[in-house]
Amino acid sequence: MADLRGYQCPTWAESLNQIPKKRTLLANKETPIHRWSLPGMPTEYDVSVKRDDMTGCTLSGNKVRKLEFLMAEALEQKCTHVITCGDIHSNHCRATAVVARRLGLTPHLILRANEQGTCAIGCDGNALLTRLCGPNIYLVPHDSGYITELKPRMEKLAAAIKDKLGDDSYLIPVAGGSSFPGLFGIISTFEEMILQGLLDNYDDLVFACSSGCTAAGMSISNYLTGSKLRCHGVIVCNYTKSYFHDHVDQVLRETGLPDDIKANAIVDIIEGYQGDGYNKSTQKERDFVMSVAETTGVMLDPIYTGKATLGMLRELQNNPQRFKGNRILFLHTGGLFAMYDHHLDATIRRRGHEENKIYLWSSKDYKPVRIEEYS
Ligand SMILES: Cc1ncc(COP(=O)(O)O)c(C=O)c1O
Repeated sequence: MADLRGYQCPTWAESLNQIPKKRTLLANKETPIHRWSLPGMPTEYDVSVKRDDMTGCTLSGNKVRKLEFLMAEALEQKCTHVITCGDIHSNHCRATAVVARRLGLTPHLILRANEQGTCAIGCDGNALLTRLCGPNIYLVPHDSGYITELKPRMEKLAAAIKDKLGDDSYLIPVAGGSSFPGLFGIISTFEEMILQGLLDNYDDLVFACSSGCTAAGMSISNYLTGSKLRCHGVIVCNYTKSYFHDHVDQVLRETGLPDDIKANAIVDIIEGYQGDGYNKSTQKERDFVMSVAETTGVMLDPIYTGKATLGMLRELQNNPQRFKGNRILFLHTGGLFAMYDHHLDATIRRRGHEENKIYLWSSKDYKPVRIEEYS
């Protein structure tokens, strides 16, 4: 059942418009921050990682931070159905299906599929967890635009549910509830990081940028608290830098901040690390994900955090003037289930058993194979 609480926003955010009155308690809070020795990191940098992949298991990453506020609004409005949309492997749609079941609401997902036919969804990665929750799934063509296709379909579905069942639906826009009140999920993450020493112990904050909600929430929070850090969003999808500046500018205006505060002054958007584009990963990126797991024990997903970490590393190596200092914090926004889409299986297999350090030990006594090379 829902743990619905009153929400008190931090004093530095009190001037913002549309402050939610309630939040649900869904995320595991105060996720750890620890040092992170990435392979190939220039020695003058001290990099740490904020483990927001640990905000939960099936409700994880930045999605559950946003859903705490979105679901509070759904419950306040006495909605009994939740409708959202995205791609088949969407972290947001998986988290929405999980949270709806947890709160006793009926989930409906309008999902873009590459192939037509009800088998298109499969059971890999996020799709497995999504389907285990048994949401109503509506497959639509992969090129369905949000404004022209998905939004009108969400509205039609809500109208049909109202008409036939008399029930109200809560609609969450595309890209994971990236408008209000989801933005306050990101602002509350920033608030949590302040309590963990963010403003004193770090010069730069780096995160993945896809819908731009995290970029907007982090950079607005940083601005409101005195702009101590430099915020960097690494683009991991097909949008351009100017798209994200426009998005953050729009959020700035919607939050009621003065017109002279501009996105390009409060957030550095890093281009060039999208690889093959949204929802795709290259072999180089997958090898990097594997080398980070192998050297640091931190799992990155190949769609968001893997690309963003690689982008951060390359910029620290090749473009250090972009950073304010040498104490860097990377925000791990989750996405672990994308690791289970089979692409990483092939990455492991193609290395072969020697490189994978798999030895056959059939006789009882131990005859080291390559002990001098153990790592
Ligand atoms: C794991 C993960 N990291 C990062 C992001 C990007 O966050 P945002 O959409 O707020 O830019 C997403 C969202 O799509 C995500 O699922």
